[in-house]
Amino acid sequence: GACVLLAVVSIQLVPCKGQATEFLFGTFPDNFWWSTATSSYQIEGAWNVSGKGLNIWDTYCHVGGNVNNNDTGDVACDSYNKYDEDIKLMKELGVSHYRFSISWARIFPDGTKASYNQAGIDHYEKLVDALKANDIIPMITLYHWDLPQALQDMGGWTNESLIGHFNDYADVMFEKLGPKVDLWLTFNEPFVVCWLGYGVGAHAPGIKEAGTSTYECAHTIIKSHAKAWHTYDTKYRATQKGKIGITLDSDWKEAFNASNPDDVAAADRAMQFKLGWFAHPIFVNGDYPEVMKAAVYNKSMAQGLDASRQPSFTEAEKQEIKGTHDFFGLNHYTTQLIEPRDWEFESWEQDQEAKEIRDPSWPDSGSDWLKVVPWGLRKLLSFVKDNYGNQEIIITENGVSIQSNTKEDALNDQARIDYYRGYINEVLKAIRLDNVNVIAYTAWSLLDNFEWSRGYAERFGLHYVDFDDPARPRTAKESAKYIKQLIKDHGFPD
Ligand code: NOJ
Repeated sequence: GACVLLAVVSIQLVPCKGQATEFLFGTFPDNFWWSTATSSYQIEGAWNVSGKGLNIWDTYCHVGGNVNNNDTGDVACDSYNKYDEDIKLMKELGVSHYRFSISWARIFPDGTKASYNQAGIDHYEKLVDALKANDIIPMITLYHWDLPQALQDMGGWTNESLIGHFNDYADVMFEKLGPKVDLWLTFNEPFVVCWLGYGVGAHAPGIKEAGTSTYECAHTIIKSHAKAWHTYDTKYRATQKGKIGITLDSDWKEAFNASNPDDVAAADRAMQFKLGWFAHPIFVNGDYPEVMKAAVYNKSMAQGLDASRQPSFTEAEKQEIKGTHDFFGLNHYTTQLIEPRDWEFESWEQDQEAKEIRDPSWPDSGSDWLKVVPWGLRKLLSFVKDNYGNQEIIITENGVSIQSNTKEDALNDQARIDYYRGYINEVLKAIRLDNVNVIAYTAWSLLDNFEWSRGYAERFGLHYVDFDDPARPRTAKESAKYIKQLIKDHGFPD
């Protein structure tokens, strides 16, 4: 009604992209579970204690000039020391699970098993024991971006010897913590690792390169994931009986004009370049999506190269990669509208020949890349179901940052409540109306923390952290109370 009318009045300014459907009252399936998440570099601090080696984020921050305000993770939320307090916050929220990551350089200070550091294992074992004593189930991410610096010095993820080093690290974690831990994630958001780390240069290691390193990074990470998955599968599964997968991030890419086939094709290309890049090899056939391979090949030829900038897998590698999942881990935050665009080649991103547009009517957040578009999550969940074999989906991250000038402002985070209410309701619709097999939801984040190159300026926490106070006190925001009630209600009973 109103939307069509607006489209008639002004097609350009107010595109008819309102996909909102009515709020759905109801509860989640009985066995659906609730979690919250953090990652090692973003919360731990303690960057130089108990034998920990340097990682790429230590280096990237200490150099200066890379991060907003020159913030670092040296102290962060001091969760290395304050994890008992964090667990109390989780208890209060009522979550059954906690997703956190291991700092590889605490376990292998120089990245390789020769440098094994028992103090690193001891730390995480204490954390796991404390969680379990509080009936909170740990979900561990092995790689949430803090690569040991010594491995970066060898070329980081563009060097395939990291496949073996990552496998050694994963193997030791399964061996030491596997008897107490049932849920594992190999990598968090490989897209972001390779795009911002090896293409755009906005994340550690800060490589800005037009067209090859990003693809090599992804290639190594996919193989590393597959090898670690097989290590778990063959060496530990029979005794430990856990589950292991990967966490992929995806925005939803909506065709700007759904009745224009060129827009529809561009939106699909954008999905394939973001989610398909990793999901297609792992969940479909061991190989990259055809449209992606063709697009990179064509651009490479147009540049006068003699081969595609994207490496290819051998048949044996495809067999090794295909099927390396026990569930689908998904991080999601926002949506874009997509139109085709014929770029002159300047960066690898332009291989996909798509242009992102943000509808001006979508609410802002405290992060420029994050517009509030709840319905995108429901569409994304259906896309995952339809394209990757109706897997069990664990939403491993979803959340929002908010602009606030004072602590009081930050605590009264109605916009975050609105975000969670809207997005979690779309998850309920996906389950109840579209039959998508979502089994869990994870709120990002338990705490305000180090938001990578944005430093401490962009707060995603359910709990406020005072970064000016050396004791790093935590205070529940209004959204923490909201999530607590939502968990208690197990959804939205009417
Ligand atoms: C995804 C990343 O996994 C996490 O580290 C980050 O803080 C959030 N997105 C918010 O940007």
